[in-house]
Amino acid sequence: MGFQLAILFLILASAASLPSEHSIIGHDFNEFVSEERVFELFQRWKDKHGKAYKHTEEAERRFRNFKNNLEYVVEKKNNPGGHVVGLNKFADMSNEEFREIYLKKIQKPIGKAIGNAKSNLHKTVQSCEAPSSLDWRKRGIVTPVKDQGSCGSCWSFSTTGAIEGINALVTGDLISLSEQELVDCDTTSYGCDGGYMDYAFEWVINNGGIDTESDYPYTGVDGTCNITKEETKVVSIDGYKDVEPSDSALLCAAVQQPISVGMVGSASDFQLYTSGIYNGDCSNDPYYIDHAVLIVGYGSENGEDYWIVKNSWGTSWGIDGYFYITRDTSLEYGKCAINAMASYPIKESYAPSPYSPPSEPPPLPSPPPPPPPSPSPTQCGDFSYCPSGETCCCIFGFLDFCWIYGCCPYENAVCCSGTQDCCPADYPICDIEEGLCLKKYGDYLGVAAKSRMLAKHKLPWTKIEETEKMHQSLQWKRNPFAAIR
Ligand SMILES: *[C@@H]1O[C@H](CO)[C@@H](O)[C@H](O)[C@H]1NC(C)=O
Repeated sequence: MGFQLAILFLILASAASLPSEHSIIGHDFNEFVSEERVFELFQRWKDKHGKAYKHTEEAERRFRNFKNNLEYVVEKKNNPGGHVVGLNKFADMSNEEFREIYLKKIQKPIGKAIGNAKSNLHKTVQSCEAPSSLDWRKRGIVTPVKDQGSCGSCWSFSTTGAIEGINALVTGDLISLSEQELVDCDTTSYGCDGGYMDYAFEWVINNGGIDTESDYPYTGVDGTCNITKEETKVVSIDGYKDVEPSDSALLCAAVQQPISVGMVGSASDFQLYTSGIYNGDCSNDPYYIDHAVLIVGYGSENGEDYWIVKNSWGTSWGIDGYFYITRDTSLEYGKCAINAMASYPIKESYAPSPYSPPSEPPPLPSPPPPPPPSPSPTQCGDFSYCPSGETCCCIFGFLDFCWIYGCCPYENAVCCSGTQDCCPADYPICDIEEGLCLKKYGDYLGVAAKSRMLAKHKLPWTKIEETEKMHQSLQWKRNPFAAIR
């Protein structure tokens, strides 16, 4: 199997035109990571996500996708910046397939301009009293993350999420609502082929309410509308409102309640997003909006403002089903055009949300720390090696195991966590911001941190070559107090 796959890969690798980002620091991925290792990793990933494939051909196709995605993830780890990608539940899908199933599903309503164009000409900065951070999940008005499955019904989840939120705010009852009712009964949208939140709000208003999740549960396929359940109107709304497409207007809206938004969700680095503030490769043009989600809060981390967003791809995508995305950008419609299609339902007897003092922004999960430096400087695990005089640092860990090692060009080096940098043993303190390695905290003199390169895969016939050690000159770091002295 492994051998056959290897042959298959040789054929495919030459035939398929991979985007340039799939090359790893100018080298061929296959040169570094053996087929067997990737296959082993694939098996573990399948176990973790409970995946099974019907046919050998499908298994091989999934494995190819997985390998391409692994290559992409490793490449991104070598060029860190902002959010983190990883082998999440979509790691066996090509981006084309992912788009086909999950995206391209926001139907642009006829006669309804994207970006609420009427207000575009005279865009004003809205002001309102807003705490520095807000998380509606902590106020008990957000239901657990749901999973739309292989059905393009994101719009219905965005709709129910917003209604669940305003209903809980007004009545004090958090009631999970039925996406399936919208998929089956709302004929102004297209069920699993897409829809639009404003039309769904209108449908709920005209129907006089919507049923609960437990009474009309989600099946993930287009079904016939159950009239009996359609008549069960547990939660109602009185209206809805479009938000002007600006950061300030969206903030003023999000301070009041969770907000339905459209966005461009088709980028590979969004498909494989696992943590951090998303600021990736998506288009920022509202024309390409193909996904709907729910803003449930906002915060700031190290000076970068972000939205907290609830997705409907289950909890094994993103941060337990949520993601952070950058806000307050200079982009006309925000990152991934997230400001362009925002709206929210209105429910009367609305009392302004009870403010509590500004709460702390939720801590961003940090990337897993690399394992401590290997005691043996040349051997990285069982399958790869670094030239002598270098240190193995983990580049890609998964399931508490380092699958892909990098080599740090220092002996007995310290692998700096959270970056691709490493420091020599006699300058063990990683000053990541300055790219310096220091002898002790507070020092202003240090040597430059170095980047790890991928470790070579160990084959029985590989000769472990020597590299000459480079001399490092001392460098000064900016003294933050010098200016005021
Ligand atoms: C519709 O819902 C009612 C009440 O929950 C149920 O008794 C009935 O079997 C459903 N009809 C169909 C066709 O599923």
